[in-house]
Amino acid sequence: MSFASEIIAWYCRNKRTLPWRDTSNPYIIWLSEIILQQTRVEQGLPYFQRFLENYPTVADFADASEASILRLWQGLGYYSRARNMHRAAKDVMEKHQGIFPIDYDSLIRLKGIGEYTAAAISSFSSNEARAVVDGNVFRVLARYFGISVPINSSEGKKIFYQVANELIDKDQAGLYNQAIMEFGALQCAPSRPNCAICPLQLDCYARKNDAVGLLPKKTKKKKSRDRYFNYLVITDQERILMNKRGPKDIWENLYEFPLLETDAPTDVQKLLTDPSFLELMEGPVQLTELSRPKKHILSHQNIYAVFYKLDSPINHKKNSSWNYVIKKDLDTLAKPKLIFTFLKDYFNKL
Ligand code: ADE
Ligand code: SF4
Repeated sequence: MSFASEIIAWYCRNKRTLPWRDTSNPYIIWLSEIILQQTRVEQGLPYFQRFLENYPTVADFADASEASILRLWQGLGYYSRARNMHRAAKDVMEKHQGIFPIDYDSLIRLKGIGEYTAAAISSFSSNEARAVVDGNVFRVLARYFGISVPINSSEGKKIFYQVANELIDKDQAGLYNQAIMEFGALQCAPSRPNCAICPLQLDCYARKNDAVGLLPKKTKKKKSRDRYFNYLVITDQERILMNKRGPKDIWENLYEFPLLETDAPTDVQKLLTDPSFLELMEGPVQLTELSRPKKHILSHQNIYAVFYKLDSPINHKKNSSWNYVIKKDLDTLAKPKLIFTFLKDYFNKL
């Protein structure tokens, strides 16, 4: 049997039943694929269901407010993906008469749809023979064929795409693409795959050469930038002061507490004499540290966050991006995970 037919045969025996399979509706496939780029299947499922319930069609998605889309996206991270989806949905309405495209060349022009997503949607919805190359596929190909070029180099991308497009079963491109991703997720798993039960074991380079743990290879990432976020929790009986983040940085348009970012870790004593902190205040204030630093890892940044309670008298200055929010309305705002987990802990403790 060929590589493709082995993989497809394995898939038919082992696939999970998932709600975005067995549909050729490109809108539903698009929703699932963008969500699954952010998270694993188990965690993505409830998001997928909520999105589909709230926006059953691309027209509903396009008509929604950005705030409500961001709120549904809350917790998935990388919020520009949600904003790009909104733009893409509007473009489907405006440039494609509301009909979600199913061909690779139209799909790839939509905001937020790259090579992977265009290949996935076009192959799953119309069997267009474009190979998907995601993390699962990189891993299977690297191990089976013994390809040691780093998967995150431009040379690697070229080689892996070339191999993948030669392997694709042109008559059942969608099925093959689903199959190889599922094979990578379940059988050729990242750590300690059970090669002894693998249908490809006899011809697998990594299995034969004891290289399963060494492939795929990656070049080292650039070091992440460290940032120190000092959040000021300013609240009265009913309300809490929130800051809406601006453009050109992480978490655009999400809500957090008033923030003082510093170049290095700080503490109550240092903050109380820090000119940038005093600049935000009108008179004397008291600070209490509410948490030890929490490390929050993003793709290129490490955020070290400390939450401080600003005690009354509340002498903070006014700032155009700061607004009091009724505590019970907090839930309706889209917030970074760092903030909503803090709120959950903090208000449960109160
Ligand atoms: N990961 C990315 N796309 C997927 C899909 N269609 N099914 C399962 N896992 C996936
Ligand atoms: Fe992956 Fe092991 Fe199968 Fe090779 S034999 S494809 S390493 S699971």
